[in-house]
Amino acid sequence: MGMVDLTLLADLRNAVQPFVVETSSAQETQEVGARLASVLGAGDLLALNGELGAGKTTFVRGLVAGMDARTDVVRSPTFVLHHRYASGRVVVHHLDCYRLGDGADLSLLDLDWLLSTGIVVVEWGSYADLARFRPVQVEFDTIDDSRRRLVITPPRANTLSPGNRREGSR
Ligand SMILES: Nc1ncnc2c1ncn2[C@@H]1O[C@H](COP(=O)(O)OP(=O)(O)O)[C@@H](O)[C@H]1O
Ligand SMILES: [Mg+2]
Repeated sequence: MGMVDLTLLADLRNAVQPFVVETSSAQETQEVGARLASVLGAGDLLALNGELGAGKTTFVRGLVAGMDARTDVVRSPTFVLHHRYASGRVVVHHLDCYRLGDGADLSLLDLDWLLSTGIVVVEWGSYADLARFRPVQVEFDTIDDSRRRLVITPPRANTLSPGNRREGSR
């Protein structure tokens, strides 16, 4: 790690460029998640994308640790769709669209309500239409057995967000 100054993430709100970071272990990916947790609060939505085993759930475990919540219960909510970790500083709602597939309809979950109570993290977020929530996007690429490339795209750098289109920037 260390090739990107993660203190830059503190300015996630205003950043217009994606942050790219390479991790060499699950532990390092968790550290990135924990670092991100420190700049997130209720109302923030994260969309995680990347193949099976790329490290999305590992990242969520770090995020939850960063909220000072217990992490032993963090696992992919592949079968129940929604996990809620409430023992930390901020509630983390953990969703996974894998089983729903592309075009996933999350309207049943009332994301607006979930966001009013905490952070929402969605694995396979690209399967759902989340643009109106101005998500922070995290893309996971597997480099080899132990290394992953994470591209963290802040809301303002997300070309899919309507606000960005209006400004005509990218
Ligand atoms: N740099 C790394 N970052 C994250 N996970 C890694 C890394 N190197 C190896 N791993 C391993 O890869 C697997 C990632 O699994 P998981 O987080 O469940 O992926 P996903 O939720 O994307 O399917 C875990 O077994 C983890 O220990
Ligand atoms: Mg997972």
